[in-house]
Amino acid sequence: MARYLTGVQSSGVPHLGNILGAIQPSIQFSQEAANDCIYFIADYHSLTTIKSAEERRHNVHATAATWLAFGFDYNKNILFRQSDVKKVLELTWILSCFTPYPMLANAHSFKDKSERLSDVNAGLFIYPVLMAADILLYDTEFVPVGKDQIQHIEIARDIATAFNRHYETDALVLPQAALQKENMTVPGTDGAKMSKSYGNYIDIFAEEKKLRKNIMGIKTDSTRMEDPKDPSNDNVFKIYQLLASKEENEELAKLYKGGNFGYGQAKKILFDKSMELFGTARSRYTELMEKPNEIEDILKAGAIRAEQKADEVLSRVKTLVGF
Ligand code: ADP
Ligand code: TRP
Repeated sequence: MARYLTGVQSSGVPHLGNILGAIQPSIQFSQEAANDCIYFIADYHSLTTIKSAEERRHNVHATAATWLAFGFDYNKNILFRQSDVKKVLELTWILSCFTPYPMLANAHSFKDKSERLSDVNAGLFIYPVLMAADILLYDTEFVPVGKDQIQHIEIARDIATAFNRHYETDALVLPQAALQKENMTVPGTDGAKMSKSYGNYIDIFAEEKKLRKNIMGIKTDSTRMEDPKDPSNDNVFKIYQLLASKEENEELAKLYKGGNFGYGQAKKILFDKSMELFGTARSRYTELMEKPNEIEDILKAGAIRAEQKADEVLSRVKTLVGF
């Protein structure tokens, strides 16, 4: 069995970029019989940015509902909430004492914000150590993540190596990133990388009218309706490309190049495709969000199973350290 683990922060409702770039590929790994997957909602991590209790609780449920709506099998695998297994905090402290300061000072998550140090809290600085603890606490071999998270996996490896070397042991398993073959970056409604923080995301779980408005709001250029258009230069097409089949893409490209075809029509095609593709997930998501107790039960049961695995690794580490 190969152990896979990944986390998604509860810092918002997962958007199209998170779903195509992280959630769906991770679910594919979990469908292989030989893979044993532990996926969790990183609510401790989300505290580095989000302080509202209400927002956090809503986002935890929204993130869990997304995994479930897209068919994550939580019986074969494990789905849990990070803060339900507190052992991760104990391991974070132990690992932090094996983490050289410059390693954290060089992490993108900190460096990108280090020009305004007064905005950086200590949690954000130590964020990669908590992530290393998430990974190392479960003897993780593979971590499905996007490109932006690779440095964090390398940090987890380096911390594990330092610990193992110090105690002349192989107590901590060295993890590696499991990247998708075609590591995609989903563009947002303005053409930049789709992200919660840029406000350019498509919320595929929004009610129909809102989703339509969201898609209709995608930025396009001012080529006139009757003129031919270049699909490779257009955001609507770029997003459609990620959702549709090769034949459907070719068909739409033809319409673009033929002229007398407006961006409004292209957006309508993208909207219809989204409804067709995500219809089932949308209804499952809405149903689940109306049953928060059901989500809680699934997360709690997952945490009990995760805790058993965490116990084994933490005991190993504590014995070595002398606690
Ligand atoms: P955001 O930028 O919206 O805050 P996160 O940083 O929380 O997203 O990312 C959560 C996961 O989703 C990560 O694994 C990340 O690689 C993936 N992801 C986020 N945005 C995109 C995107 N636009 N395209 C592809 N994957 C994405
Ligand atoms: N830092 C990751 C992100 O922002 C989320 C995360 C937390 C994570 N702990 C993890 C991902 C452990 C993989 C493994 O996307």
